[in-house]
Amino acid sequence: MQQDGKIFIGKSSKPEYLDLKLANRHGLITGATGTGKTVTLQVLAEGFSDAGVPVFAADIKGDLSGIAAKGEPKDFLDKRAADVGLTDYEQKAFPVVFWDLNAKDNPPGVLEGHPIRTTVSEMGPLLLARLLELNEVQEGVLNIAFRLAADEAMHLDDLSDLRAVINSVGQRAAELTTKYGNVSAASVGAIQRRLLVLEEQGANEFFGMPALDIRDFMRTTPDGRGNINVLAAEKLGKSPRVYAVFLLWLMTQLFDKLPEVGDPDKPKLVFFFDEAHLLFDEAPKALLEQIERVTRLIRSKGVGIYYVTQNPLDVPDTVSAQLGNRVQHALRAFSPREQKAVKAAASTFRPNPDLDTERVIMELKVGEALVSTLQDKGEPSIVQRTLIRPPSSRIGPLTTEERTRLVENSPLFGKYENRQDRESASEILAKKAEQEAAEKARLEQEKQAQESSWTKVIFGRGPRGGMSVGEQVVRDASRSVMRSMVTQVKNAILKSIFGSRRR
Ligand SMILES: Nc1ncnc2c1ncn2[C@@H]1O[C@H](COP(=O)(O)OP(=O)(O)OP(=O)(O)O)[C@@H](O)[C@H]1O
Ligand SMILES: [Mg+2]
Repeated sequence: MQQDGKIFIGKSSKPEYLDLKLANRHGLITGATGTGKTVTLQVLAEGFSDAGVPVFAADIKGDLSGIAAKGEPKDFLDKRAADVGLTDYEQKAFPVVFWDLNAKDNPPGVLEGHPIRTTVSEMGPLLLARLLELNEVQEGVLNIAFRLAADEAMHLDDLSDLRAVINSVGQRAAELTTKYGNVSAASVGAIQRRLLVLEEQGANEFFGMPALDIRDFMRTTPDGRGNINVLAAEKLGKSPRVYAVFLLWLMTQLFDKLPEVGDPDKPKLVFFFDEAHLLFDEAPKALLEQIERVTRLIRSKGVGIYYVTQNPLDVPDTVSAQLGNRVQHALRAFSPREQKAVKAAASTFRPNPDLDTERVIMELKVGEALVSTLQDKGEPSIVQRTLIRPPSSRIGPLTTEERTRLVENSPLFGKYENRQDRESASEILAKKAEQEAAEKARLEQEKQAQESSWTKVIFGRGPRGGMSVGEQVVRDASRSVMRSMVTQVKNAILKSIFGSRRR
């Protein structure tokens, strides 16, 4: 069943394969809930790993982690294996690296994955503005904060660095407006409030050092299998905006950092975005355009992106048009929107004269799908009703203990676990503020010392020297009177020495 350079997906009237040479032309897996999307993702991820292609998958429901464990023999799996003609069906575990965006929130002793972090500067003002939901004017101020940090050589690592620089922008508004453009106090205040909200959502954890080295997603095992990177994303499902921005950041990182490779024999990395509708729902136009652009261009870096979602209409047309390899599980067609989705899904396939595509979409059984993959010259294959092969790894999640053990034994364990704090913007600005305060205190002291020496000149002794209690009371009560007297006498003496400058 296995063929070199291809991943066996399942069986229609013939075996169905995904061609590794065309796997960077992206893909789409859709279907109603419970129809087999995650298992299809699992089957594909296993195939890529076996072919030496590293994989990244966001595990929104927590049911993908079983891919790290050997599957348990079950009758329905053996039957499925026989039905699809998989004669060499074996159960095995796959090399998995777990990642976690919110490692701090885990109960003591529980590890869900290596913490993923990035710095505020790597995230950049564009994505950060999306994350903070800033308007155009506020985004302008954020840009100024980034430029100020760059011009004054301050690292923007974590959110406290950003907060410090934003505060500084507010304090120096007049000066910076001349240099960089308008800084409005209202915008500074708005950004500060949005930062608070973001911190409350736990984003503190995500920003800082050590930042993720994207090459750690691209590792293979010593025996040449691709690592499957699974991101614990259950909590992320609750903050879709953070999820969307995080995934987009990852894509952008890959795009920026990987070299052009054209069309390689097999992808350098494959991404699976489960619950992809979270990426597109309510995304502002600029963000959608960026997703569309990165999807289009990242192919030449050898990265394949597979969107997984319930409704094919969730994916905007401009993105959908670029997804060449398609697995369509069953859709229901009760509501008008569902009926529309069925029609739309059917129309994206290259028709098969033996199939009523629209009707079949509604009839498909669990673990069965309409499949069309890209062929030799990049043309889509004729759509086929396909029974998807069973996975070799476990269907469903790992136990907490299994997962913690795997994280502890990972070759990456220790690299990201402890936060580092180098001297960055917040420290630099705090130090500066301290120095300024010290300088101010010094000047004040100097002024007082000078005044007291003038008092000596005028009254023959210092105000503190050998006073009785009565004298002290008089001194305190008349301090300001004395001060102005001293100033007047001082000015009179200076005038008598240097003459008036008025004339
Ligand atoms: N290819 C397959 N081989 C064997 N069993 C399968 C296959 N695909 C799906 N199943 C069975 O169907 C169940 C549901 O599949 P799966 O979890 O992939 O659905 P889903 O579409 O991801 O659902 P949801 O939208 O709720 O996430 C699996 O737990 C498994 O028992
Ligand atoms: Mg699923």
